Amino acid sequence: MRIADFRSDTVTRPSQCMRDAMAAAEVGDDVYEDDATVNALQEAASALTGKECALFTASGTMSNAIALKVHTNPGDQVLMDENAHSMVYEVGLPATIAQVLTRQFRSTLGVPEMTSIAAWLQPETLHTPRTSLVVLENTHNRAGGAVIPLDVCTAVYATAKNAGAAVHIDGARIFHASVASGISVSQFAACADTVTFCLSKGLGCPVGSVLCGSADFIARARRVRKMLGGGMRQVGILAAAGLYALEHNVKRLADDHSRARALAAAFHGDVNVQPVTTEPATNMVYFNTKLPAQDVCTQLAEQHNVLCNPTAQYTLRMVTHLDIDDECVDMAISGLRAVCK
Ligand SMILES: Cc1ncc(COP(=O)(O)O)c(C=O)c1O
Repeated sequence: MRIADFRSDTVTRPSQCMRDAMAAAEVGDDVYEDDATVNALQEAASALTGKECALFTASGTMSNAIALKVHTNPGDQVLMDENAHSMVYEVGLPATIAQVLTRQFRSTLGVPEMTSIAAWLQPETLHTPRTSLVVLENTHNRAGGAVIPLDVCTAVYATAKNAGAAVHIDGARIFHASVASGISVSQFAACADTVTFCLSKGLGCPVGSVLCGSADFIARARRVRKMLGGGMRQVGILAAAGLYALEHNVKRLADDHSRARALAAAFHGDVNVQPVTTEPATNMVYFNTKLPAQDVCTQLAEQHNVLCNPTAQYTLRMVTHLDIDDECVDMAISGLRAVCK
């Protein structure tokens, strides 16, 4: 029985070619920095992002934790969108690991309001914490996979730098932003001191993320990674999947984007199930539902073999990825129509 799994782009399984590349990987002890495949992946990531150095990490959450810890001192203030992944889904790591105060800036569909950021960029005084970091998420998960336009990123970076704050991009899906906008990853990355991207989402790897920045930043990041238990050994087996993905799985993200648009388009004007964004920018489609979203998801799973997750009481999310083809999209459309009629 075919199952169409739209829960996340993290559910992809490595292809046979990717597994072959992993099996053949040259490896070494990466804590000693002598794993040739990890080193090759880090060099490729530096070249793609235009940053001096890169560090392979276990996950997007680990990369964000390291970035927050290295960029800040305990008690500093960090600005991020109220719906940022680090704010909502990372188990409170800004407070626990970096021990920072998070301050939320306003944004519209994931695009930050400059005045809201500028208002909270403050120096340390007798009374106030220093704002040492601004976090941008591109693409923006909870804003429907929205792309933050390059001119906004540029303006945020200039304003933050002017106030002495650094900028980190949570670019878990920065390749989606690049493919959707035609703007290179390095152009987006130029608007930040550090950027991380995930290999285990749209790029189809089983695990991994890469954090990129200056040589000095990455040297400090390496120590924090070790402290968090992320110093891994013959990890070239995983890095090989990353190298394979960077070569083979980036351009095809455009297919995921067009399938997401087709899925949303099928419900234009439908009063029972409405796409939140009529033209999703990348690979996520959020639907507002008349029925409770949990009930819709349960019925889709039990009666139509379509998996997806509620994100609010009357909102659900479907994500397109490497393992979603046109047949899966048809299953989702007919399933949603049947459940939400
Ligand atoms: C925008 C964003 N950042 C970070 C992460 C965390 O990645 P991981 O699940 O690899 O920890 C996610 C995961 O979905 C994400 O969507």
